[in-house]
Amino acid sequence: MTIEVRNLRFDALIPKYWHGGRRSVSTFLDGLSIFFPAGERFFINSVLAHEKCVKDPELLAQMRAFVAQEALHTREHLRYNARLRAHGYPVDAMERRVIKLLDRVTRILPPRLQLGVTCALEHFTAVMGQMVLADPRILDGADETMAALWRWHSIEENEHRSVAFDVFKAAGGTYPERAITMFGVSVVFWAKVFEHQARLMHADGTSASPKEWADLGIHLFVTPGGMTKLIGPYFAYYRPSFHPSERGAEPLLDTYRTALANFEAAA
Ligand SMILES: [Fe+2]
Ligand SMILES: [Fe+2]
Repeated sequence: MTIEVRNLRFDALIPKYWHGGRRSVSTFLDGLSIFFPAGERFFINSVLAHEKCVKDPELLAQMRAFVAQEALHTREHLRYNARLRAHGYPVDAMERRVIKLLDRVTRILPPRLQLGVTCALEHFTAVMGQMVLADPRILDGADETMAALWRWHSIEENEHRSVAFDVFKAAGGTYPERAITMFGVSVVFWAKVFEHQARLMHADGTSASPKEWADLGIHLFVTPGGMTKLIGPYFAYYRPSFHPSERGAEPLLDTYRTALANFEAAA
């Protein structure tokens, strides 16, 4: 799998409700963006902490590409989050809570389990990214720049989806460590996703709006309903023989690489 580092910038006048004017759907993706700067720094650190365990030169090269991709994602999500801040969302407080949580994880867990946490979260970013690429309806009606940003991130998450996992294996990571970290991450991550959604909607004054929650629920679970498609890939991770490369996203990646190259050329 080629891991291509694309130094793209996503500048434009982006409307607050950039997903076709749909408030709760826009804030769902905004809420994910708030995780990324601290989250991806954690990913980078946990992978680099095991560099000495990696003897395969190809994996070492992939690690460097992984770090470069995640660092650029961090840069663009910091800019994304600055726009959210300008729209009046409590981004600083939310980012601080993510940093605090990851600091606690770093203090409590030994390095290899921290890498297990990264593997679990990288599985989420890869399968969610694959979902975004597989079903164009997920970003249907979205602002063009924002759609390009999310597709860019989705492509690169899929390109490097095996890297943390292979480093974890090289570091002697075991199946029980992998399964238990995935279980813990699943509980905490989805609780945090809900918290972010509630906080952003509270800032919008829509946290008590059944209409807004229904609109989000329909988008996530009915039409296009991407969340329901996560269930199979999620449980696949618990198979002892699982490897991220078995999830063939290559044809999708080729399609969107071309679209992204066109976006880059037009920028
Ligand atoms: Fe990323
Ligand atoms: Fe990643």
